Amino acid sequence: MKRIVILVSGRGSNMQAIVSRCRGEGWAAEVVAVLADRAAAAGLAWAAEQGIATAALEFKAFANRDAFDTALAAAIDAHAPDLVVLAGFMRILGADFVRRYEGRMLNIHPSLLPVFPGLHTHRRALEAGCKVAGATVHFVTPELDHGPIVMQSVVPVRAGDDEAALAARVLATEHVIYPLSVRWFVEGELQLEDGIVRHKRGASQLLA
Ligand code: GRF
Repeated sequence: MKRIVILVSGRGSNMQAIVSRCRGEGWAAEVVAVLADRAAAAGLAWAAEQGIATAALEFKAFANRDAFDTALAAAIDAHAPDLVVLAGFMRILGADFVRRYEGRMLNIHPSLLPVFPGLHTHRRALEAGCKVAGATVHFVTPELDHGPIVMQSVVPVRAGDDEAALAARVLATEHVIYPLSVRWFVEGELQLEDGIVRHKRGASQLLA
C-alpha cells in the first residue's frame, strides 16, 4: 500500500476527489493523513469524518517560515508517505522543504502553466482575453507553480464568463486530472526524464 499525505488550506474539494477515487477504485494506496495550515480549513472536518488522521499547524504559531516548514515536515514524515499532495495548500514552501520531497510531491494549479503562476489566475486569463483555460498537475520544485508537468486539462473561455464561472469550469476538470495523476504516481506509471513527465504506457496526459 502506497501512503499519501494531502495538504489543504480550504474546502479541499480536490482532496475529496482523490480520497473518493482512491477508495472507490480500490487503488493500492491509502490517504493516511490530511494536514492543514489552518484549523478552520473545511477540508479537515470532511477528512476526519472519513476516518482519516488530520492535523492543523497554524502558521501564526511559528516564529518564521523555516520553523513552520520544519514542523510541517515532521508532521508529514510521521506518516511516512510515498507521496505528498498539495491540494489548495496556500503557503509558499521553502526550498529545503521542497527538496526534501523532490520527485514525490505534486501540486495542482488552476492555469495552463507556465502561464499565470500565482494568484488570481482566472481573472488574469479573462483580462488577457484567453480563449482557453485549464489546470495543471505538476511535480513541485522550489519555484512557485513550476515543475515537470504530469497532466493538463483544457476548457473553453466563454463569452460572458466571470471569474466564478471560469473557476467552476476549470475546477470540474481538476477533480478528474488530479486523482488520475495521483493514481498514476502510486501505480508507478510516471517516468521523469530531462524535466519531462511521461506516462510509461502512453496514456494521454491531456484532458481536453
Ligand atoms: C483549486 O482551484 C486548486 O487548483 C488551487 O486551489 C483550489 C483549491 O480548491 N490550487 P479545493 O480546496 O481543492 O476545493
